[in-house]
Amino acid sequence: MSVAIILILALTSLIPINAKVDGAGKICDELSRRTLSTRPHSVSITDFGAVGDGRTLNTLAFQNAVFYLMSFADKGGAQLYVPPGRWLTGSFSLTNHLTLFLENGAVIVASQDPSHWEVEDSLPSYGRGLDLPGKRYKSLINANMLHDVVVTGDNGTIDGQGLVWWDRFTSHSLKYNRPHLIEFILSENVIVSNLTFLNAPAYTIHSIYSSHVYIHKILAHSSPESPYTIGIVPDSSDNVCIQNSTINVGYDAISLKSGWDEYGIAYSRPTENVHIRNVNLRGASGSCISFGSEMSGGISDVLVDNAFMHNSLTGIALRTTKGRGGYIKEIDISNIDMSRIGTAIVANGSFGSHPDDKYDANALPLVSHIRLNKIFGENIGVAGKLVGIKESPFTSVALSNVSLSMNSGSSISWQCSYVHGSSESVIPEPCPELKRDDDDDDAYGRAAV
Ligand SMILES: *[C@@H]1O[C@H](CO)[C@@H](O)[C@H](O)[C@H]1NC(C)=O
Ligand SMILES: *[C@@H]1O[C@H](CO)[C@@H](O)[C@H](O)[C@H]1NC(C)=O
Ligand SMILES: *[C@@H]1O[C@H](CO)[C@@H](O)[C@H](O)[C@H]1NC(C)=O
Ligand SMILES: *[C@@H]1O[C@H](CO)[C@@H](O)[C@H](O)[C@H]1NC(C)=O
Ligand SMILES: *[C@@H]1O[C@H](CO)[C@@H](O)[C@H](O)[C@H]1NC(C)=O
Repeated sequence: MSVAIILILALTSLIPINAKVDGAGKICDELSRRTLSTRPHSVSITDFGAVGDGRTLNTLAFQNAVFYLMSFADKGGAQLYVPPGRWLTGSFSLTNHLTLFLENGAVIVASQDPSHWEVEDSLPSYGRGLDLPGKRYKSLINANMLHDVVVTGDNGTIDGQGLVWWDRFTSHSLKYNRPHLIEFILSENVIVSNLTFLNAPAYTIHSIYSSHVYIHKILAHSSPESPYTIGIVPDSSDNVCIQNSTINVGYDAISLKSGWDEYGIAYSRPTENVHIRNVNLRGASGSCISFGSEMSGGISDVLVDNAFMHNSLTGIALRTTKGRGGYIKEIDISNIDMSRIGTAIVANGSFGSHPDDKYDANALPLVSHIRLNKIFGENIGVAGKLVGIKESPFTSVALSNVSLSMNSGSSISWQCSYVHGSSESVIPEPCPELKRDDDDDDAYGRAAV
């Protein structure tokens, strides 16, 4: 071995643990440095006949306002201003170089009448809807193939009035798949900030096939009982930053996805370069942060730093199953505080169903290079359930500086199978699968020397 190679090995082993996912670590700094361009033109929704009495339907006013503002896209863009009041509306779309600004006291209220929501085809990387096969309602606020779109305000509110949708879901009376509050499709350079989101019918913010997505200072809240409500979903999207936000929802607070089985494999667009920091999360009957289970386009280079997770079934969850294909790799999670969590860390290789029977059961997902560092918890039921796939075990799972204090009812602390990895300073004592390091390289990608 030459001197140069020895030197390189010595240097790489000095790289601090959190520095592996470089691109992701820079994305929040990069996106937050961009200054919000003030738009040279501004109109108020009242200029288009909107009435903020909570009863008048304003869908046409929003649609007309956006249509009018399209002509300003090549003149520096425009702002659509929403003053204090309760502005009832059905679904509407945004346009390029637009800022939707909700004043303090402004509430955009989603209509509970399904006929006020447009209907569209399911997403190509899913092949069908998640609630039921077939079409889906458009989101309340849509950005499709747009760039430079900002949804912000002085802590205005967007209220999805989801209760009726949750009831329709539970009673199997949905005609089409439930809508989300905001959806970005094939869009670039989007910002969502300084807003409160309440009662999303399904997801609060869905970013799909999009890049450079910056979400910060938002509060998202839905009841802990709301079925499968998810806060923020970066889905087949890259260069995403989520920071300084609080999310309390029924299922998953933040869920990273990239398509479903044969549809996601064919579409083949990963979620990558995602940075999540300074977040406060509750995913009551799901997870605070989850990866998958739809991950067929791949998920990689994700950095989660500084999160508080509480009152949830699971803290951190990696989910996949045979037939998914794809991968979950190069994930760094550190500085996590947990309180009142059923299972702190889950990796489940037989999670979730299939879109239809056309999936390839031999499409095995790959899960590797998952690093968890500085995870503290109190009132934890089970420390970890890490159950991989026999034909494709989860590898290079590294736990360091983990300290979980278990609640009195807990009996087992770790359950592991088909998983390999390493551990350092982990309490309670981890399973033997995490104590050996028999992989070719360790979790940091360094050759074993
Ligand atoms: C924003 O509004 C929500 C709901 O009105 C409120 O709970 C929250 O404290 C407000 N946040 C800020 C920063 O003012
Ligand atoms: C968001 O709120 C912060 C204060 O919390 C303020 O400094 C910033 O200007 C706001 N952004 C917008 C776009 O209003
Ligand atoms: C986010 O929160 C952190 C820590 O609370 C603070 O230092 C930082 O300035 C905030 N960033 C933004 C963009 O508000
Ligand atoms: C994995 O998920 C499946 C489906 O939800 C569940 O039945 C199983 O118990 C989970 N495995 C573990 C180890 O939690
Ligand atoms: C674990 O993290 C805590 C808090 O950051 C620190 O005080 C402690 O020294 C760390 N222990 C090890 C073994 O790294």
